[in-house]
Amino acid sequence: MKIVSELKEIKELCKSLKKQEKTIALVPTMGFLHAGHISLIKKAREKANIVIVSRFVNPTQFAPNEDLDAYPNDRERDHKATSEAGTDILFEPLATAMYNENHGAWVEVPELGKLLCGQTRPIHFRGVCTVVTKLFNLIQPDFAVFGKKDFQQLAIIRRMVRDLNMNVEIIAGDIIREDDGLAMSSRNAYLTKEERSLAPFIRKGLLLLAEKAKNGEHNANSLYVIFSQFIQEHIPQARIDYVKMIDKDELTELENLKDCAVVAVAVYLGKARLIDNILIESK
Ligand code: PAF
Repeated sequence: MKIVSELKEIKELCKSLKKQEKTIALVPTMGFLHAGHISLIKKAREKANIVIVSRFVNPTQFAPNEDLDAYPNDRERDHKATSEAGTDILFEPLATAMYNENHGAWVEVPELGKLLCGQTRPIHFRGVCTVVTKLFNLIQPDFAVFGKKDFQQLAIIRRMVRDLNMNVEIIAGDIIREDDGLAMSSRNAYLTKEERSLAPFIRKGLLLLAEKAKNGEHNANSLYVIFSQFIQEHIPQARIDYVKMIDKDELTELENLKDCAVVAVAVYLGKARLIDNILIESK
């Protein structure tokens, strides 16, 4: 595995790979890799001749009150994990190289970016879209792989690629879970032992909604009450940021379930803000 940190070097390397008619799949990450990332790398491996993983904690997607400085980091472990997963090139630029001091250009999908997580993290998706565009410009990948856990991020990136005619195919990777159902996330590292033992109730609450929906409960507000009561009962110290039943493409909130919808949630537990989602069906 080749490790590249210079922007000029990754650009030239990718240009030369393209000249050799190699296809490239990119897996953008912020490091501290877990099995979820590894499954995205494996998906990328199936798609293209060359797999590039970026490892960059993007400062512009964090608000000043968020966890940029505390974001977990283990460079050596990431190098081992990416290499073992079959990565060809690991791109890990410095923030000072990625962003000029007077950086002033942004990419946004404002309609989708202001919903759900955008309510409590208003600049988040602008930062995500901007850094992903920068990575696409540097690497010119044929494919880019994103996880379905960050459901809103995936929908926003698909919309950005469609609306700006970007020449890359977006591939979605399934949510990878711990044995007890907790969705894998680098931020799970913030949980205390006790919080970690309670966190799987978020998934259990979502499974309960899926079951209720199948059995005829199609009203969004009733489903929200069921979820809130379940969380209150099993994780009293948790605070629900949102629970929303949404259209899977438009992300707009639905009042009643017709055929299928996504229920997306964000829950604060200790120092972590955990997100998860589930596809629910009416029959
Ligand atoms: O999902 C993430 O880890 C980040 O939002 C991404 C896509 C790597 C952009 O920084």
